[in-house]
Amino acid sequence: MKKAEEEYPFLKACRRQPTEYTPIWLMRQAGRYMKEYRALRKKYSFLEMCKNPELAAQVTLQPIDKFKLDAAIIFSDILIPLEPMGVEFEFAKGEGPVFHHPLRERKEVEKLRIIEPQEDVSFLMKAIQIVRKELEGKIPLIGFCGAPFTLASYIIEGGQSKNYILTKGLMYQDRPTWDALMEKISEVLIRYLNAQIRSGVQALQLFDSWVGCLGPRDYEEYVLPYSKKVIDGVGKKVPLIHFATSSSTLLELMKQAGGDVIGVDWRVDIGEAWARIGYDVAIQGNLDPVILFGSVDLIEKEVKRILHRVKGQLGHIFNLGHGILPNTPIDHVAALVNMVHEYSSK
Ligand code: CP3
Repeated sequence: MKKAEEEYPFLKACRRQPTEYTPIWLMRQAGRYMKEYRALRKKYSFLEMCKNPELAAQVTLQPIDKFKLDAAIIFSDILIPLEPMGVEFEFAKGEGPVFHHPLRERKEVEKLRIIEPQEDVSFLMKAIQIVRKELEGKIPLIGFCGAPFTLASYIIEGGQSKNYILTKGLMYQDRPTWDALMEKISEVLIRYLNAQIRSGVQALQLFDSWVGCLGPRDYEEYVLPYSKKVIDGVGKKVPLIHFATSSSTLLELMKQAGGDVIGVDWRVDIGEAWARIGYDVAIQGNLDPVILFGSVDLIEKEVKRILHRVKGQLGHIFNLGHGILPNTPIDHVAALVNMVHEYSSK
């Protein structure tokens, strides 16, 4: 039976409306833990898959065909809008992203291009259209981007970082360059997210994966205004999930920046987190991705615990506290999805 958009449990939960069960999707649900993904990856590089609309659509649907997930997320990466801005990078084997010319000076900010998403990332827009057709009447499609801080950290550090010395160095010691960079990234992201909405995504997630390296005062001063600008720039056209990790001390400020749903990792008790940010926003996440490597009994215990901690409130979306890890047992993922539906059924 085909569902109308207003009936999708995931979108209802984003809007804090009653649902017949707690909806669940998994961050990074399309990826290396699936053999179907690994088979395609033997033939294509990760970026080739992102840039080919048919392949990106196919990979987006792989976890949907396998598990009873309540939403799909378009297969892409938070780094995709950086290339048309003029920031070059590659995925080096086993290392994650590597940037060839990390940004250090004001004049390099001036050179960054404001992108035209419809032309510059047309492959993503096509992939969204293909997936929407496939999923019509079944489940909604989520679009996404990296938040300004997380993207700035890649551009400045030149890759993953442990201590964010260069990023914080620029932030503390060269405020005009920091502001110019964050301003430019924010403008690109507003265009990028609005183009995804025009192409058909029915919700958005902002990934501020690495912002947990900041204390609350620095977040408020150097980051919040830009995350807020991006979220305000999208308006209220579709529900937006505002997610970060190691962000237990930032949750109130993240809510202030905006979002209909706040995404939490596992380092915080979800019940306490929700009480702190207030029940006028929905909440997502909380299961430690490593729990999926444990026994089915352990997974069951954790699912029951999380569901119990949010009982009585409207607007919980079940998810992991961060992306699903490579080598996660596939049958445990299936068991998780089924348990969440069963134990939360009204
Ligand atoms: O959720 C989904 O299924 C959609 C796809 C998605 C990917 N990346 C695919 C991917 C999403 C939403 C992302 C977001 C992303 N990308 C984030 C934020 C989420 C998070 O985990 O905090 C970040 C920080 C990135 C940057 C990135 N992309 C890194 C650091 C890496 C390499 C590390 C790794 O896991 O290998 C990637 C590569 C990447 N993005 C892969 C996938 C499936 C693995 C590529 C491969 O097949 O080798």
